[in-house]
Amino acid sequence: MRIDIITLFPRMFDGPFRESIIARAIAAGIVEIHIHDLRGWATDRHRTVDDAPFGGGAGMVLKPEPLFAAIEQLRGENGHVILMTPQGQVFNQQLAADLATYNHLLFVCGHYEGVDERVREHAIDRELSIGDYVLSGGELPAMVVVDAVTRLLPGTLGSHLSTVEESHAGGLLEYPHYTRPRDFRGWRVPDILLSGNHAAIARWRHEQAVRRTLERRPDLTRKYLPHLLQEHKDGDEDAGATTTSGL
Ligand SMILES: C[S@@+](CC[C@H](N)C(=O)[O-])C[C@H]1O[C@@H](n2cnc3c(N)ncnc32)[C@H](O)[C@@H]1O
Repeated sequence: MRIDIITLFPRMFDGPFRESIIARAIAAGIVEIHIHDLRGWATDRHRTVDDAPFGGGAGMVLKPEPLFAAIEQLRGENGHVILMTPQGQVFNQQLAADLATYNHLLFVCGHYEGVDERVREHAIDRELSIGDYVLSGGELPAMVVVDAVTRLLPGTLGSHLSTVEESHAGGLLEYPHYTRPRDFRGWRVPDILLSGNHAAIARWRHEQAVRRTLERRPDLTRKYLPHLLQEHKDGDEDAGATTTSGL
């Protein structure tokens, strides 16, 4: 996969993309990431890329000319252009899996008050938010999306199962993990994990995943796995217990 990122602050990407899994994916040729300074497409002596908003108000707006020039030069044949914005669709694991099927992603990072509306209307394929809060720029959001997508690319993680079993992959949060020592300050690893009975361990892990999703994120269960909710309610009713409120 090829990834291009248009930003006013290219150096922000130095750390996250030079470490750990993304760095390994780059070294292995699974992904190539190109960071572009938007000022490279400014045409005046001062390399201006922003201006005051028409109608007045606080802050500056990223001008359309440099952004259009950058996107048109970089998008190529089949580049999918993504604007990072708190007004976009909220990013999740399904969207990460969808983006992982593209050959070429091009991220546009806003700053200040954001980008001129004509960029959004005429140069962008998709708008993504990483959550309902406002950050200073689109750089951290772009890094979040690139990380989530890169780890799904075939070959990036050692085991394909890592991404199949983990939280959000199938609508469930993942089961708890333990490692040595077996007893830490009197808190013991569940016996089942030491039993060597792989079928029983798989059953226990699935039960744990269902339980913690119901407890922590009933909204996920409602959305992706409504049958689990019904089974949980039936089980509680059989046991004469009241169901968890709000489910
Ligand atoms: C201060 S924000 C602009 C907010 C904009 N004035 C608004 O109210 O919608 C500057 C830039 O940060 C990025 N940004 C901020 N919060 C974000 C979020 N939750 N998800 C994705 N991008 C975000 C966007 O690229 C945005 O253009």
